[in-house]
Amino acid sequence: MNVPIKTPDEIEKMREAGRQAASVLEMITPFVKAGITTGEIDRRCHAYIVDELGSTPAPLNYHGFPKSVCTSINHVVCHGIPDDGKSLKKGDIMNLDITVKTADGYHGDSSVMFVIGETIQGERLCRVTQECLYRSIALVRPGVRLSTLARAIQGHAEASGYSVVRDFCGHGIGAGFHEEPQVLHYDGYAPEADIELAAGMCFTIEPMINVGDSRTKVLRDGWTAITKDRSLSAQWEHTLLVTETGVEVLTARHDEDLSFLER
Ligand code: MF3
Ligand code: CO
Ligand code: CO
Repeated sequence: MNVPIKTPDEIEKMREAGRQAASVLEMITPFVKAGITTGEIDRRCHAYIVDELGSTPAPLNYHGFPKSVCTSINHVVCHGIPDDGKSLKKGDIMNLDITVKTADGYHGDSSVMFVIGETIQGERLCRVTQECLYRSIALVRPGVRLSTLARAIQGHAEASGYSVVRDFCGHGIGAGFHEEPQVLHYDGYAPEADIELAAGMCFTIEPMINVGDSRTKVLRDGWTAITKDRSLSAQWEHTLLVTETGVEVLTARHDEDLSFLER
């Protein structure tokens, strides 16, 4: 496997791409409330990425994806397509996944969960899924194997009574949207795929965690992935840089508490 190591110049461009993706999530957050349609979320993000950031929404036309962001509500695991007929209602949970491609040609990819109104089950699932992401990020440093990250995610999800989606994974990222390596969120690595991290690698971790069983299916639109048993699903994603001493969260938001990384 040939995992790209970024040069200092590329790392600067990745930092900018990560900041931009985070800024889209910060911009849209106040609008994500009961009543807004996922179509409107898409349009606002598209306009901000193009007009304010001078960048491109990477999902648009990516292998034919029709919109600029992914909006995945409740039992939708990932790749939900924004739609003017689909409005958020109380009790919903939604993943919003943003990927920006900068004018320099580098990608920043990040997603968060929104809880609309109150849902005890939804809130617990979203919290545990974020903990899965954070526990794995905390382990990132040169020499650590991908399987170590995967076991941290799977261990916490399953100890919480949930399952880890196997059909989608994280990925290397840079000038390419999806580069090597594949970043599994469960321990399914073949020995040759279980690479050691090295300084200068950039990749995403983006666990998808289900209340019910782990199986998914893709709807006839060719994109929307749902849980087979229609149980709730959550996902959080960051783009990371492996540094000499640990990790930099390239898509960190200003209000995000990453103090767990201080060690
Ligand atoms: N942002 C997604 C990821 O985390 C990929 C979306 S591809 C799309 O890798 F075509 F659905 F937008
Ligand atoms: Co991604
Ligand atoms: Co993403």
